[in-house]
Amino acid sequence: MNKAIKKAPAKKEEAETTAAKPAKRARKPGKFTFQSVKGMHDILPVDQVFWDKIRKEVLNISDYYGFERIDTPAIENAAVFEKGVGAATDIVEKEMFYIKSDDKLVLRPECTASVVRAYLEHGMTHLPQPVKLYYFGPMYRHEQPQEGRFREFHQVGFEILGSESDPIYDAQVILACYRLLEACKLSKLEIHVNTIGCRVCRPVFRRRLLEYYKNKPICKDCRRRIVTNPLRLLDCKEEKCEKFKKDAPTILDSTCNNCNTHFKSVVEYLDELKIPYILDNNLVRGLDYYSRTTFEIFETGSKLALAGGGRYDYLVEILGGKVTPAVGAALGVERIVSLMQERNPEMGRKSKVDVFLVHIGSLAKKKSLVLIEELRKGGIRVREALGKDSMKSQLRQADKENVTLALIYGQKEAFEDTIIIRDLANSSQETVPLEKLVAEVKRRLK
Ligand code: HAM
Repeated sequence: MNKAIKKAPAKKEEAETTAAKPAKRARKPGKFTFQSVKGMHDILPVDQVFWDKIRKEVLNISDYYGFERIDTPAIENAAVFEKGVGAATDIVEKEMFYIKSDDKLVLRPECTASVVRAYLEHGMTHLPQPVKLYYFGPMYRHEQPQEGRFREFHQVGFEILGSESDPIYDAQVILACYRLLEACKLSKLEIHVNTIGCRVCRPVFRRRLLEYYKNKPICKDCRRRIVTNPLRLLDCKEEKCEKFKKDAPTILDSTCNNCNTHFKSVVEYLDELKIPYILDNNLVRGLDYYSRTTFEIFETGSKLALAGGGRYDYLVEILGGKVTPAVGAALGVERIVSLMQERNPEMGRKSKVDVFLVHIGSLAKKKSLVLIEELRKGGIRVREALGKDSMKSQLRQADKENVTLALIYGQKEAFEDTIIIRDLANSSQETVPLEKLVAEVKRRLK
């Protein structure tokens, strides 16, 4: 059990920054007294443009497909995850941050179990079903930090709870994730899908798996998994175990008619949408609550999933409600941001402003704040360096802001109620009356 928040950090280990920082801007160690906690990162202003883009697209997609926002606390009772995610999963067994051991409170390692807790607590079962929810927030897992794997990371999640176990909702969740990644300008996406059956057919598959693996020299983790959750044998990445997977029984040979029909419908919906997918018999996922459909989305060639999810028809019941089918998925925001930065770095260089105001002399400076207000009313985004009086240093800053237009407001202009619009791309400039400024800037920005 991990009590990492409560106990004093093991000095060096907890205080050091990691090699897995998303942005490689680490300073020389030893220069600063404090650094962020291992596996947890600041999101700096230069990265925010990517985060803003994701947030904007999450809003668009959620609004379009009818998901409403839910926020749950970062701290939950550990039992929500012990029961929901499964006591024998890596997440619960090794990765939870306990913050108060007596009360068994943890920082949430994921949000699906929290959403189900909230769904039951707030009587959402009485709302028209299904209830479609989305979230965006930090999750915490005490993993060994490495590329794309952090201790604090953010997820966007889509969950559809209630109504029948209708495969159309499985397809809609996959679609929402896929469209979100596309909207973030990521291409070469691969969707891996599988079914892991239901309460009726999964025990049959488990027995067949146990029979197959009985005398195989599998790794230490798998020897444990064979007792706690044999399906996870198919998920093992150890070289020693890899070779046994290809001849292992597949779930599709054991699924009951209902699960077969369900899975067939999911992939038919994807065909209908012309969304490409790969059938992946070994995709069992690391959380115990799944039933039937499981899926993950990768960029081709990468082993790091950008999204993962599936159906969890028994979770509401496990957490104390009536049998309530549900399906959902979550996407890892840091992983998406990192790919966006690699594939589309120019997005980070885009200017967030329209014009840069350069003032020269005390009268212009005095009138500058009022002028900025006029531009604000006109919907024009302005940057300035009002504290700097030298024209050269103001223009240097304009250059850094990546703007194409500078407004030069000198003593003469301030006196005559005019202003110079300078096109920084070709250094041409024109003096315009102040009352025409907004219209003129808009015309040039078109
Ligand atoms: P998960 O596969 O554990 O599923 O996480 C979903 C996504 O979160 C992963 O595909 C990955 O992009 C990101 N992620 C997970 N762990 C880390 C980490 N340590 N560092 C950075 N990113 C990470 C779930 O959490 C389920 N609750 C998904 C779900 C929702 N299933 C049904 N509804």
